Formats: sequence, structure tokens, C-alpha cells
Amino acid sequence: MKVAILMAFLAAIALISVVQAEETCITCHKTVTPGIVSQYESSKMAKAGVSCLDCHGEIKGIDDPSVINHNGYRITPVVSPIHCQKCHPQEYQEFMNSKHAWTALIGPFRFWYRDAVSKGLVEEGKAPDNSVFLKSDPYEFIGKSITPLMPASGVLAKVGLFDEVQGYKNTLNCIGCHGSPVIVKDGKIVKGWPNNGIGRLNPDGSIGSCSACHTRHKFDKAEARKPETCGQCHLGPDHPQIEIYQESKHGNIYYSLENHSFLDEEELTPENTPVPTCAVCHMSGFNGAKTTHDVGSRLYWELQPKISTPQWYPANLVPVGKQKPDEERARENRAEMMKVCRGCHSPSWVEGYFKEFDEAVQDYNKVAKSAKALLDKIYEEGLADKSNQLDEYPELMWYYIWHHDGRRWRMGASMMGYDFTHWHGLFETVGDKYLKMLSWYETQKKIKALEERKAEQEVTPTPAAKASKSPGFQAVAAIAVLSALYIIQGRMRKK
Ligand code: HEC
Ligand code: HEC
Ligand code: HEC
Ligand code: HEC
Ligand code: HEC
Ligand code: HEC
Ligand code: HEC
Ligand code: HEC
Repeated sequence: MKVAILMAFLAAIALISVVQAEETCITCHKTVTPGIVSQYESSKMAKAGVSCLDCHGEIKGIDDPSVINHNGYRITPVVSPIHCQKCHPQEYQEFMNSKHAWTALIGPFRFWYRDAVSKGLVEEGKAPDNSVFLKSDPYEFIGKSITPLMPASGVLAKVGLFDEVQGYKNTLNCIGCHGSPVIVKDGKIVKGWPNNGIGRLNPDGSIGSCSACHTRHKFDKAEARKPETCGQCHLGPDHPQIEIYQESKHGNIYYSLENHSFLDEEELTPENTPVPTCAVCHMSGFNGAKTTHDVGSRLYWELQPKISTPQWYPANLVPVGKQKPDEERARENRAEMMKVCRGCHSPSWVEGYFKEFDEAVQDYNKVAKSAKALLDKIYEEGLADKSNQLDEYPELMWYYIWHHDGRRWRMGASMMGYDFTHWHGLFETVGDKYLKMLSWYETQKKIKALEERKAEQEVTPTPAAKASKSPGFQAVAAIAVLSALYIIQGRMRKK
């Protein structure tokens, strides 16, 4: 009995102190960051009783060096997905299975990750934590090993423009979308902050940032369903999904709607949804397709690599390059996507559309294989130097073919953006870059042949050529030419 009273007493104290803590966070922050408090108060989570400390508080059993003493509390400004996991385990797990989560370990950071794996600092397929960053600083690594502007390119250094550029060490470009490591030294964040890149590497060893789509402190589902949320990163020459959407009939209808309040519905259904947004096709539960935070799980193709294949798995092997196409899963993904379409379209409409889309991808593959074969021939014939694969004319054309124009071709076809499929895509790939590559090759071949002949004459003169250079021979030749002219002139006069 005594024990029970004591327990109840302790529980009451704990409750009071939590309530007080909350009041203090909020009362103080109403003056320090009033915007944050009012966004928080308008959120569904605040109404459901989720507190500041639920997200910002220290988590027992997790070593997070970013935790600081803050007005009597232990808090962190870095709210990693682990903080959301305790209440949203399914969203967390699906997100972890996606390429979104792993995307800060590709591109330039891939080289750092492989190096860390080879040194035994991190286990292959696992996310690194702060202790790994302190042993091998990722920003220092890529700053030294990657030259500016384009990965693996020495093109700027070659023309003497920059010795060292902060580009890859700075959070304002690639990293702004992909995310990068947040590094803590002696209790202070020293690098990579602020950072809402979707694949952010958190000091507690988790990856990703849920706030890439769910902005604090409202965490509004309707906002995440809007195409603009995805368009923040999915735009531009190499992955113009938002532009394609705007061009498509779907986007067209979306933007001409007077209001988008259907996105506030708890669940989206064919009855309440007039038109699909990015999220409806790729994430939302819809017409029998399951809600998912793994954005790869409704895709058949990889549309971004040099040659398109069925989707690669698993995402956590992306940095080591060991993920593989998985045809069977890709087919299941396709079936899931088709469920979404069939909420609004007839099966034959949907099948007809996918047949043509697949043909477009295969057409691209044919062109890409042929362009790659041409580049290989160029290397074999010694017309370009393979050591740096991004600083000569045909190499740049090949880069444009797969990385820019050829992606637009495939991506345009995947989401009904006809201008992107043809004019920015197919036409630019074949009519511009491939033909330029081909004509460069023909010209270089001719120049090389001429140069070789010239070099042959200069370097190893033939006996005849040697003789032709002797003064005696030249005198005899001059006399012969003059007499020939004399004879011809004489004949002409006779006529
Ligand atoms: C007595 C006032 C006060 C109280 C109480 C308080 N804060 Fe703060 N907080 C501040 C001030 C001032 C700043 C900005 C200065 C700074 O970064 O230290 C701040 C900054 C923060 C930051 C950003 C830190 C950073 O490094 O970017 C977070 C997150 C935060 N507070 C959360 C909380 C939470 C959660 C609570 C309750 C557990 C809380 N605060 C209680 C005054 C307060
Ligand atoms: C549902 C989780 C959640 C809750 C609840 C929450 N926060 Fe946050 N807070 C975040 C996230 C996420 C960020 C952004 C940092 C990040 O991406 O890790 C953030 C950032 C902040 C920042 C720094 C942002 C800036 O722009 O400077 C402050 C200060 C802050 N929160 C204070 C608070 C206070 C005070 C409360 C309670 C009134 C609160 N937070 C409740 C998740 C939460
Ligand atoms: C302590 C538990 C808890 C934590 C921690 C938590 N949530 Fe929630 N979250 C909830 C609850 C409960 C709801 C349901 C609110 C409702 O539907 O009324 C919710 C709802 C949501 C929603 C749906 C909002 C809407 O508009 O329908 C999103 C998005 C969300 N949370 C994201 C996050 C993210 C991101 C984090 C981590 C930064 C997080 N949550 C941390 C408990 C939590
Ligand atoms: C505007 C946001 C943004 C910026 C800036 C950005 N990326 Fe990306 N990146 C994306 C998106 C979105 C994709 C996904 C494209 C797709 O799958 O259609 C992507 C895809 C990639 C891929 C292909 C991933 C794969 O699975 O094959 C690599 C590699 C990459 N980016 C590296 C970089 C590098 C390196 C930089 C800086 C030079 C950079 N990105 C800058 C948004 C961005
Ligand atoms: C790529 C953008 C994106 C990211 C990143 C993202 N979400 Fe979401 N989230 C969405 C969208 C879109 C929805 C609405 C799905 C729907 O229509 O049912 C959503 C819905 C939710 C919901 C509400 C689920 C429901 O059934 O009502 C929760 C909870 C949630 N997200 C948590 C998280 C957590 C936790 C993370 C990080 C691990 C996260 N999200 C990362 C886009 C995102
Ligand atoms: C009508 C449904 C629909 C809408 C709306 C839609 N998509 Fe897609 N998306 C698709 C289909 C179908 C594919 C190709 C799937 C496959 O490979 O089988 C695709 C492919 C993609 C890919 C994969 C590219 C790659 O590298 O493999 C990305 C990224 C993408 N969409 C993002 C978006 C974004 C961002 C938006 C909104 C601006 C959007 N989608 C709107 C249906 C849609
Ligand atoms: C903060 C930037 C960012 C936001 C916001 C974002 N994405 Fe992405 N997305 C990326 C990057 C980067 C990649 C490339 C991942 C990789 O391949 O490494 C990507 C890849 C994808 C893919 C291809 C996945 C695969 O397995 O090939 C799809 C589909 C996608 N995103 C859909 C969405 C949708 C839908 C939204 C909005 C609800 C969204 N994204 C919001 C950055 C973002
Ligand atoms: C929420 C309903 C909805 C979903 C889901 C949906 N669509 Fe549509 N779609 C429409 C509407 C509405 C139109 C406009 C029809 C018209 O022109 O009358 C349309 C038009 C189209 C068109 C014609 C484009 C044009 O240029 O006229 C194609 C092709 C198409 N959808 C394919 C798809 C595919 C493939 C999917 C699944 C990946 C899909 N749709 C998912 C509602 C939807």
C-alpha cells in the first residue's frame, strides 16, 4: 500500500515536472521564437499532446553528441528520424528502405564512404555516426579528392580557374537536396548545419530528415502531398519532374483547380481526389495501393543511370555500389502503380500508356549503348584520353546524353510530359549531342590521319624524300620543271 502511494506520488511529481517543462519551453520560446511556437500550436501533433521534449529531448540509450544543456533541460536541435520513430515506426522503416534515406552517401560522398568501409570505420551498408566523422572528416576528404564543378572533373583546374573551391564542402548546393553529415566536436555542431537534405547523416548514427517534406512545426500532411514539396528538389535539367508535371494534363488540371482542399482529407480516394499529385502516384494509400514512405516501391525502372534497368535493391548498398536490379520486385512495383492509375482510368488506358512508356525507355537504351560504343571506339583509337572522363568534347557529349537529355527523354515519357520527351529529350539526345559526337569523331579521325602522314614525312623521311631535300636534287628538279613549262608553252603557241 505504502509503495503504491509512493509510486503515485512520484508519478505525480514526474507529470508536474513534464508539464512545467513544457510550459517553460513554450512560455520562453513565445518570446524567443514566436513563429515556431505558433506553428507548433496549429499542428495536429500539438493538439494530440506531442510536446517539445518528445522531439527535442535526449533519448535514453542513444549516444547523441549533439545533445546540449539548455536552460536546465537536455535537448538537441537535430531532430533525427529516430525521434519520430518511437511514435511512427512504420513510416520510419519505409523511409529507411528508400533511396531518399541513403542519398547523402552517393555522388562525392560515396568515395568517402567506401574509404571508411575499407578502413573498417563503418560496416558496409550501415550508416556512419559522429565518431566516424571525427576519425575521417568527410568534408576534408571530398575537398581534397574531388575537383570542382563536376564530379571527377579536372576541367576547371586544367584551365587554371580554381585551386580549391568550397563547392563540395558547402551545404548550399548538392548537399541542400541530398543532405550531408552533421558533425559535432566537443559538444558543438561544427559542420553541416543547418541541413534539411533528405538523406542527412545525423550525429546519432541515423540517416535522413523527415523535415525535408514535413516542415516544422506544423508537420502538415496536406503540405507534403503538394507537388511543390517534391519540386523543391525534383527540378532542373537532370530531373525536371516538377516541370514535367506542370506540362502534363494531370498538373494542368491541378493548377487550374480553384482550391486544393482535397489534400486535407484524412485519406485520399478516387471519390475525393480529382487529380493525382506526385504524392498520390508515389506515396499515398489510393485505390488499393498501400501508403508508403519508400518512394522506389512503385517504380519499375531506374530512369537516372547511363543505361536503364529494373529498380535496384537494396538502397543501403547504394554507397558501395553493390545494389542490383531486381526484376521480380520491379514487376510488383509496377502492379502497385497501376492500381493507382486504375482509380481514375480504365485498365486498357493504363496498359496502353505503360506499353508506350516502356518502349521509350528501350529506345533510349539503344541510343545510349550506341553512344557509349562510340566513346569506347574514340578511346581505343587514341582520339581522347580516358584518365579524366569529363574534360574532353565527346566525354561531355556522353555526359549530356545520359545525365541531362536522355533523362529528360525517359522522365518525360514516364509522366506524360511530351515536350520533355521529344524536344528537351529525344531530339537533344540524338539530333544534337549524339550527332555532334559523331561528327567530332569523323573530323578527329581525318585530322589524325593527316597529322600521322605529316609526322611520318617529318620524323622518318623515306629515301626519296631524303634525296628530295639534297641541294643537287633540287637543282635538277628545278631545271626539269622549267624545261617542262618551256615545252608546254611552245606546244600551246603552235595551237
Ligand atoms: C529561458 C528561456 C528558454 C527556455 C526555458 C527554453 N529555451 Fe530554447 N532557446 C532559448 C533561446 C534564447 C534560444 C536561442 C539561443 C540559443 O541558441 O541558445 C533557444 C534555442 C533553442 C533551440 C535551438 C538551438 C540551436 O542550437 O539551434 C531549440 C531546439 C530549443 N531552444 C528548444 C527548447 C526546448 C525543447 C525547450 C524546453 C525543454 C527550451 N528550448 C526551453 C531560450 C529558452
Ligand atoms: C514533432 C516534432 C517536433 C516538435 C513537437 C517540436 N519540434 Fe522543434 N524542431 C523539430 C524539427 C524536425 C526541427 C528542425 C531540425 C531538424 O531538421 O532536425 C526543429 C527545430 C527547432 C528549432 C530550431 C529551428 C530554427 O529555425 O531555428 C527550435 C528553436 C525548436 N525546434 C523549438 C521547438 C519548441 C520550442 C517546441 C515546442 C513548442 C518544438 N520545437 C517542438 C521537431 C519538433
Ligand atoms: C510522442 C509521439 C510522437 C512523436 C515523437 C512524433 N509524432 Fe507525429 N504524430 C503523433 C500523433 C499522435 C499524431 C496523430 C495526430 C492526429 O492525427 O490527430 C501524429 C501525426 C503526424 C503527422 C500527420 C499530420 C497530419 O497532418 O495529419 C505527421 C506528418 C507526423 N506526425 C510527423 C512526425 C515527424 C516527422 C516526427 C519527428 C520529427 C514526429 N511526427 C514525431 C505522435 C508523434
Ligand atoms: C535541386 C536538388 C538537387 C541538387 C542541388 C543536386 N541533386 Fe542530385 N539528385 C536530385 C534528385 C531529385 C535526384 C533523383 C533523380 C531521379 O531519380 O529522377 C538526384 C539524383 C542524383 C544522383 C543519382 C542517384 C542514383 O540513384 O543513381 C546522383 C549520383 C546525384 N544526384 C548526385 C548529385 C551531385 C554530385 C550533386 C552536386 C553536384 C547533386 N546531385 C545536386 C536532386 C539534387
Ligand atoms: C518525400 C517526402 C516525405 C518524407 C521525406 C517523409 N514524409 Fe511523411 N508523408 C509524406 C506524404 C506525402 C504523406 C501523406 C501520405 C498520404 O497521402 O497518405 C506523409 C504522411 C506521413 C504521416 C501520416 C500518416 C498517415 O497515415 O496519416 C506520418 C506520421 C509521417 N508522414 C511521418 C514521417 C516520418 C516519421 C518521416 C521520416 C522518417 C517522414 N514522414 C518523411 C511525405 C514524406
Ligand atoms: C500520374 C502519376 C504520376 C504523377 C502525378 C507523378 N509521377 Fe513520378 N512517376 C510516375 C510513373 C508511372 C513513373 C515511372 C515508373 C516506372 O519506372 O515504372 C514515375 C517516375 C518518377 C521518378 C523516377 C525517376 C527515376 O530516376 O527512376 C521520380 C523521381 C518521380 N517520378 C518523381 C515525381 C515527382 C517529383 C512528381 C511531381 C512533381 C511526380 N513524380 C508525379 C507517375 C507519376
Ligand atoms: C529535399 C530534397 C527532396 C525532396 C523534398 C523530395 N525528394 Fe525525391 N529524391 C531526392 C533525391 C536526392 C533523390 C535521389 C535518391 C538517389 O537515387 O540517391 C530522390 C529520389 C526520388 C525518387 C526515385 C526513387 C528510386 O528508388 O529510384 C522518387 C520516386 C522520388 N524521389 C519522389 C519524391 C516525391 C513524390 C517527393 C514529394 C512527396 C519527393 N521525392 C521529395 C530528393 C528529394
Ligand atoms: C485521381 C485520378 C487520376 C489518377 C490516379 C491518374 N489519372 Fe491520369 N488523368 C486523370 C484525369 C482527370 C485526366 C484528364 C482526362 C481528360 O482529359 O478528360 C487524366 C489524363 C491522363 C492521360 C492523358 C494525358 C493527355 O495528354 O491527355 C494519361 C495518359 C493518363 N492520365 C495516364 C495516367 C496514368 C498512367 C496514371 C497512373 C500512373 C494516372 N493517369 C493516374 C486522372 C487521374
